[in-house]
Amino acid sequence: MTNSNASLPVYLGDEGMTEEIKDMMTSLPRQKGWMVNHTYQFQGFWLPPSLLQGTINCQKHFQAQDSDVILVTNPKSGTTWLKALIFALINRNKFHDCQHQHPLLTHNPHSLVSFLEGVYYNYPHGLPDDVVSSSSSCTRFFNTHMAHVSLPDSIKGSSCKIVYCCRNPKDMFVSLWHFGHKLASQETLVCPIEEAVKLFCEGSFIGGPFWDHVLGYWEASQKNPDKVFFVTYEEMKERPRTHLKRMADFLGCSFTKEEEEEKGMVDEIIRLCSFESLSNLEVNRKGKLPNGIETNAFFRKGQIEGWRDTLTDSLAEEIDRTSEQKLHGSGFKFQC
Ligand code: A3P
Repeated sequence: MTNSNASLPVYLGDEGMTEEIKDMMTSLPRQKGWMVNHTYQFQGFWLPPSLLQGTINCQKHFQAQDSDVILVTNPKSGTTWLKALIFALINRNKFHDCQHQHPLLTHNPHSLVSFLEGVYYNYPHGLPDDVVSSSSSCTRFFNTHMAHVSLPDSIKGSSCKIVYCCRNPKDMFVSLWHFGHKLASQETLVCPIEEAVKLFCEGSFIGGPFWDHVLGYWEASQKNPDKVFFVTYEEMKERPRTHLKRMADFLGCSFTKEEEEEKGMVDEIIRLCSFESLSNLEVNRKGKLPNGIETNAFFRKGQIEGWRDTLTDSLAEEIDRTSEQKLHGSGFKFQC
């Protein structure tokens, strides 16, 4: 399963750290990583050095605007899909020909929406204008994997909107497992899956604790539903029309009756951004992102309960048990 031509983006490696971050890293809890050499515990979450640097610089320098839209996900929870959907949604007046001339037909969604930690890893002091303008015309649209506790103050303090999408932990873990084995170098992948599931459940797997990430945004969405829109990958899969329309209402760009019924825009956007449509485009089959990662790495099965071909029943039960314990009393639970 391991790819000897590993092409994990350089920003997940250990290189390119500024002196300031290197100094800081010496005071943080550190552990051997999976997919990366080491992870560091920062504000409760285990991050590779580059995401740590991106997060800290973003916290210092990012100035959110009231009209910004921020998509937040855990890795492998539908980021690519939601980037496409929200990009198409908020730019639908600019790009209405979803069949012939839409940017999503020729660009991978990650090329159209900037990843904040990646940008601030590359540009420690701030966001260059061209990065902002590549995002979209009037509404700036970014994504991040940051935990709620780590969001820059200007995101929490402004009226910008946050869309949070999470995915059931078994599928998210399995998707990450395959992503790592496709892209990372062999020496970082020696951990057997049983051990990886154990670390995931303990919260010390890369990016974890998974459930703290989910609960941070779940609680924020309960307290302030006008600020944080919470949706699951499974809900989007099962009822994409309903949730795309809810998202449009939340973002203040509701579909008109004419757009929905006469122009069929809701269905057009869903079709354009579907797994079948995006994964078959040349740019997503054979393309590469500027960071070197092959675009086809973001499209694997795109299914609910795809974990069944990778996890044994007992590993799945271990994740289910942990999920039940962690989410107990929160009012939120995963459907599967
Ligand atoms: P699988 O590995 O289970 O197939 P991310 O974009 O956060 O990295 O998540 C990647 C996961 O989303 C992969 O899951 C991928 O196949 C799936 N995915 C990508 N595009 C999708 C789409 N348009 N619709 C549904 N799932 C999609």
